[in-house]
Amino acid sequence: MGIIEFSANGGDPRWIPTEEVNVKRIGVLTSGGDAPGMNAAIRAIVRTALANSVEIVGVKRGYDGLITGDTVSMDGDSVANIVHLGGTILETARSAGFMTKEGRRKAIRTLAEKKIEGLILIGGDGTFRGGTELTRESGVSVVGVPGTIDNDVFGTDYTIGFDTAVNTALEAIDRIRDTALSHERLFFVEVMGNHTGFIAFESGIAGGAQELLIPEVPMSIDDLCSKLQEKFKQGRRSAIVVVAEVEKPGVSFQIAQQVRDRVDFESRVCVLGHIQRGGSPTARDRVLASKLGIAAVKALLEGRKGCMVGEVRSEVVYTGMEDTWGKKKELYAGFDELIKILFQ
Ligand code: F6P
Repeated sequence: MGIIEFSANGGDPRWIPTEEVNVKRIGVLTSGGDAPGMNAAIRAIVRTALANSVEIVGVKRGYDGLITGDTVSMDGDSVANIVHLGGTILETARSAGFMTKEGRRKAIRTLAEKKIEGLILIGGDGTFRGGTELTRESGVSVVGVPGTIDNDVFGTDYTIGFDTAVNTALEAIDRIRDTALSHERLFFVEVMGNHTGFIAFESGIAGGAQELLIPEVPMSIDDLCSKLQEKFKQGRRSAIVVVAEVEKPGVSFQIAQQVRDRVDFESRVCVLGHIQRGGSPTARDRVLASKLGIAAVKALLEGRKGCMVGEVRSEVVYTGMEDTWGKKKELYAGFDELIKILFQ
């Protein structure tokens, strides 16, 4: 641990490490897209800090609040009755200001002024890119907790919020199946994923979709059409194609139109969008958030910095923050065989 020192002549802030790990005050913020379970993580972090006689400060609206100094001191009462709530009580933002050196300088000044000796970041890849810069430029002790519905963070089997989002998408797919069957239609159900197919893969398998369009297994429109045509020829009267949004919501409208131009079958599109981000977290997300929240505070108390706590095969592991967004997280081993068998 240590303290941040500003030179009087306006030079760069300096991180001065202290000999002993004797933390008195830490901060927590949520950043990027919100994810169900973030509140359970905040709760675990606050409780672990208090149990170790460490003061805990909440930073509002992610890095934006760090830049403006918008903080709130937290106690047991501030995290009572929040474990079941979606969203984040600290609010969140995709901070444009923090992407600038000047913004980060202001943020570092806030940390110094508020005497925050260690900072826990709950978020996804964008949050950890910012955390990497913060560590590099200030040396401040930063520990990450993976919180994003996309599950696209290297260094953890699952991110907080992913399980809830998959179950939300699954519920929607089950509902769509009812109307698809009743009207004998083809449906394109688009889910989020930020350039990955994690949500599509799990909700598609669990929802018994006929086809899966994910970046990890590219499929041409021609191949998709011939596969669908074959199924309709064999007598199938409705079908569901789960599509990963990749870049931004709406890609499935173009895909559906291209399929309509080639395949004579009535179809509809349903983009699930931000519905996937809200709602009460599942038990799995609450438990993961609690475990990782506790692990993050303990990591700071042990003197760790510039890393993320994650869970791999049920064990808490630490990954260098740069690797969490710099390394690509793959779909599970053997996923291609599973796809071949279940989506033939
Ligand atoms: O939270 C992650 C994510 O849901 C991505 O899958 C999606 O592309 C993005 O956030 C959209 O979020 P926003 O509308 O808040 O920018």
